[in-house]
Amino acid sequence: MSTYLVFGATGTVGRRVVERLVLAGAAVRATSRRPHAAGLPRGVEVITPDLRDLGDVEGAFLMWPFHSAEPAPALVGALRRHTGRVVFMTGGGVLPGLAPEEQPSPVARWHATVERLIERSGLEWTVLSPSSFMANTLWWSEQIRAGDEVRGAYGSLAMTPIHEDDIAAVAVRTLTGPGHAGRRHTLTGPEVLTQAEQVEVIGRAIGRPLRWRELPPREERARLLADPSFPAGFVDELLAGYAAMAAAPPPAVTTTVADLTGRPAATLFDWAAGHAARFGAERR
Ligand SMILES: NC(=O)c1ccc[n+]([C@@H]2O[C@H](COP(=O)([O-])OP(=O)(O)OC[C@H]3O[C@@H](n4cnc5c(N)ncnc54)[C@H](OP(=O)(O)O)[C@@H]3O)[C@@H](O)[C@H]2O)c1
Repeated sequence: MSTYLVFGATGTVGRRVVERLVLAGAAVRATSRRPHAAGLPRGVEVITPDLRDLGDVEGAFLMWPFHSAEPAPALVGALRRHTGRVVFMTGGGVLPGLAPEEQPSPVARWHATVERLIERSGLEWTVLSPSSFMANTLWWSEQIRAGDEVRGAYGSLAMTPIHEDDIAAVAVRTLTGPGHAGRRHTLTGPEVLTQAEQVEVIGRAIGRPLRWRELPPREERARLLADPSFPAGFVDELLAGYAAMAAAPPPAVTTTVADLTGRPAATLFDWAAGHAARFGAERR
C-alpha cells in the first residue's frame, strides 16, 4: 500500500484530501501542529510538520499556510529527501508566466516563489491553481445569521467559486495517478458569479432572500479588523487580492474538475444547501 503525506491536513482542502486518500485505500501521513486535536479518520498517522522527521512517502500534497515564501527552501528540500512527487495547491491570483516579483499581489508573489522552487527542485510536480473557495462565503455566515444583508467591498467582483471537495478530488487523482507531472491545472467551479450574486445564491439555497450592501474598501477594512472571527493579519492581503482581481481580466470557467474526476464541478447552490446550518438555516 502506498503512503502519501498531506500538509495542512486539518484545513479546508487538506482534510478532504485525507478523507479521499483513505477512501481510495491509501495509507496517509498527515501533518498538524496539534496532532491530538486533528480529528482525522482512524488509521491516519498524524505527525507535527517537523521537516527532519517526515518519513519516506510515495507523494505529498502541499498547501501553503505561511504568509511569506521564507520557509520554502527548507520545506522543498525536505520533500526532495522524502518523496519523488509533489502536488502543490498554489494561491489565488498567481498569473502563470509572470516571474514572482511581477505578480500582482503579495499573496501571488509568495505562492509564485514557492511554485518556482518546486518546479526547479527535480521533484515530479503538479501545480493546482484553484479559484476562490466556496468555503470563503462562510466569512459572511455571521452577517447572514443576524439578518438579510451582507456588507462587503467589491460586490461586482466576478469569481468562479469552487467546492473544496472538488479540489481534493483532483489532488488525489493527480497525486495517485500517472500523467500529471509538469502540469499546471487551473481549477474552477461551474459558474461565474459576482460576490453579490453569490449572496443571492446562498439566500435561495437556505430559503431566505439575501442581498449585498456595498461598502467602500476602507470601511470594509475597518469592519473586518473589528470582526474577531476574521484573522486580522489577513485583512490587507484579502483586500489587496480583491483589488488585483478587479484589475485583472474577468475569470473564466474551466472544465478541469469534470475532465479529471469524471463528474461536474459542484454548484454554489449545492454547496450552500449542504452548509445551510452554518448560515443559521435548516438543511434543505
Ligand atoms: N481561500 C481561497 O479562496 C483560496 C483560493 C485559492 C488558493 N488558496 C490557497 O489555499 C491555501 C490555504 O488552503 P486551506 O484553506 O485549505 O488551508 P487552511 O484551512 O487555511 O489551513 C490549513 C492548515 O494549515 C495548518 N497551518 C496553519 N498555519 C500553519 C503554520 N504556520 N505552520 C504549519 N501549519 C500551519 C493548520 O493546521 P494545524 O492547525 O492542524 O497545524 C491548518 O488547518 C493558501 O495557500 C491559499 O492562498 C485559497
